[in-house]
Amino acid sequence: MDNFTLINGVVIPAVGFGTYLTSERDDGTVAAALEAGYRHFDTASFYGTEQALGDALQSSHVPRSELFLTSKLWKTEMGYDGALAAFERSLQKLHTDYLDLYLIHWPRTDDLSAEWRQLDHDTWRALEDLYRAGRVRAIGVSNFLPHHLRNLMESADIMPMVNQIEFHPGYPQTYTVEFCRKNNILPEAWSPLGRQRVLQDARLAEIAANYHKSVAQLCVRFALQCGVLPLPKSSSPERMAANLDVFDFCISDEDMDRILTLPQFGWSGLHPDYPKADS
Ligand code: A2P
Repeated sequence: MDNFTLINGVVIPAVGFGTYLTSERDDGTVAAALEAGYRHFDTASFYGTEQALGDALQSSHVPRSELFLTSKLWKTEMGYDGALAAFERSLQKLHTDYLDLYLIHWPRTDDLSAEWRQLDHDTWRALEDLYRAGRVRAIGVSNFLPHHLRNLMESADIMPMVNQIEFHPGYPQTYTVEFCRKNNILPEAWSPLGRQRVLQDARLAEIAANYHKSVAQLCVRFALQCGVLPLPKSSSPERMAANLDVFDFCISDEDMDRILTLPQFGWSGLHPDYPKADS
């Protein structure tokens, strides 16, 4: 499998396995993902999947050094002390003494009227200290738009290396992706398949057929060709494998343009600055 390399030289397997909504208990999903070839796992304290992931990885006996583990601190864990405590809880559940990547999950708390600028600065300072102490190999954010990133970068000593955002055909967030690219921040895609909302789309089906691939595979490949690291989820071993089988074709420039210029559809309704919208 190909890799992405972060600005600090850390190498990440180019397709990761998302664990949101997988079982809170070890139900064999992680073992199946390992079997399919995944070594990069994405979790978060909010998902409730850290323990199951940690247990499954521990019993797999895959060496820790071959795994790439990302977790995120939740909105209620922000602030300097909150972030440090959240990090320790994540390590414990994941049965590890370091993370490969640690992210601030959202730039703002649920109370959208609360002051978020200072909170982000304080939280980021904790991540910088964890990074300097060698507890985490890379640090970044999630669901940050350019104005949230600019605010963070104003006070940061270490720039964010990753920004994980919703990204799929119908919602490619080109403005944010371009901002990340210019600032050496690797964008990652949560819901690269639009959580099935885009998989039935006839326009995407027509394009996928050109390459004898499924729409899901087209979506994963689309992210890669946009320079965005996809984190697809699946509960089925066949679909886990299919989502990794995307390195034997290349979407043409013309088809990339068609996908990138589709009118918005399949959005989750989640936005960092607004209450959840009906999607
Ligand atoms: P399943 O678990 O039954 O495979 P996203 O990663 O965008 O959040 O999307 C996850 C959803 O997409 C899950 O419901 C998953 O269902 C489905 N899915 C994952 N891979 C594929 C695939 N290759 N083909 C069709 N559906 C898929």
